[in-house]
Amino acid sequence: GVALGSLLADTGYVTLDAGFVNTASCSSAITYIDGGNGILRYRGYPIEQLAQNSTFIEVSYLLIYGELPSASQLETFTEQIRRHTLLHEDLKRFFDGFPRNAHPMPVVSSAVNALSAYYQDSLDPSDPEQVELSTIRLLAKLPTIAAYAFKKSVGQPFLYPDNSMGLVENFLRMTFGLPAEPYDLDPEIAAALDMLLVLHADHEQNCSTSTVRLVGSSNANLFTSISGGINALWGPLHGGANQAVLEMLDEIHAAGGDTKDFMRRVKNKEDGVKLMGFGHRVYKNYDPRAAIVKQTADKILDKLAPDDELLGIAKGLEEVALNDDYFIERKLYPNVDFYTGLIYRAMGFPPRMFTVLFALGRLPGWIAHWREMHNDPATKIGRPRQIYTGHTARDYVDLSQRS
Ligand code: ACO
Repeated sequence: GVALGSLLADTGYVTLDAGFVNTASCSSAITYIDGGNGILRYRGYPIEQLAQNSTFIEVSYLLIYGELPSASQLETFTEQIRRHTLLHEDLKRFFDGFPRNAHPMPVVSSAVNALSAYYQDSLDPSDPEQVELSTIRLLAKLPTIAAYAFKKSVGQPFLYPDNSMGLVENFLRMTFGLPAEPYDLDPEIAAALDMLLVLHADHEQNCSTSTVRLVGSSNANLFTSISGGINALWGPLHGGANQAVLEMLDEIHAAGGDTKDFMRRVKNKEDGVKLMGFGHRVYKNYDPRAAIVKQTADKILDKLAPDDELLGIAKGLEEVALNDDYFIERKLYPNVDFYTGLIYRAMGFPPRMFTVLFALGRLPGWIAHWREMHNDPATKIGRPRQIYTGHTARDYVDLSQRS
């Protein structure tokens, strides 16, 4: 493929594939998706087995280093992450510059980008030790950054990380805890969030991961490349869909819960209304992650928000969609975002934090891809071609001569 690409470029021919529907940008050994059959595997391990048996830290190790860790490797990795959770005090003041009502995604991506300014001893992509250090720093500090973005939005004081706690537990405490009060952690919620992070941890060459690779292909540092990925994730066609789903469900609920009328608008493409959380570029079958999330939604909502009517509306929409020719013909099924928002909300997160949670989950995948790219001798700077459709050559017209 690479040889053929270079050959064609030399002849002046270029291939136009808007949205990269059928064009591979790299070879990768990280994640396998069979969209027709609804299969997802990280490093060969089925997502269902990882969701049930593994943890987010272990899956991060698996994605980044290629193998499940031994007990001592896992302990060392966990310990390293624990030791780097603190944010530089100057970087904490960075949050003060944002308005209270800022969306947390640009706050988080800016803070991650700013890591390049505060941790200048781990920026060199060609130095494996520096890459290792920036990997650990990112995994350790993103939960702290995410929690501070939340605290900023609700006007509460920032909590220092408690390094006796696990990554997800610490994140929940820094998000929902208060300085003078002991934080009452619910292990079931922590386990459910950990599992949701596992489900989001990688998804091969999606929009944000491709962005991380493209930024990184110029030898930009890891922090700044990941910041680019966080921005790409924010869009409602990508990770921003989880917030958009909840807003859609709220809207339907407020309008009396008429799912049929909403679906009529979607099918008629009225005002560009889409069934958010449905459809996927690669899955033309049920998204295997959505199946797991749906079960978790049942469990968590039953415990935390048994009166939440939005779950019923979501299930109603799914039922209509799965039996409707519009969705059947286009092979549109629920994706990972369809039910996650309901769980996050039941856990206490406002909708604006949903995509931040997605970013927390996707981080190890982004890192794994950035590192894989740098270790691949076939890597070149990403530089797509174009089909030029503008004017042919024409002469400059003096301002006085223009109508
Ligand atoms: N609701 C209604 N119609 C839809 C939807 C939807 N959610 N998704 C796709 N379609 C329709 C399109 O209008 C199009 O119809 P047409 O053939 O009559 O023109 C057809 O299905 C094919 O859709 P495309 O937009 O060409 O598919 P594409 O692969 O480019 O887009 C995407 C995939 C962006 C995910 C799309 O399905 C979508 O917008 N879904 C809603 C947003 C969403 O949930 N995004 C999260 C994706 S998963 C993730 O990032 C975690």
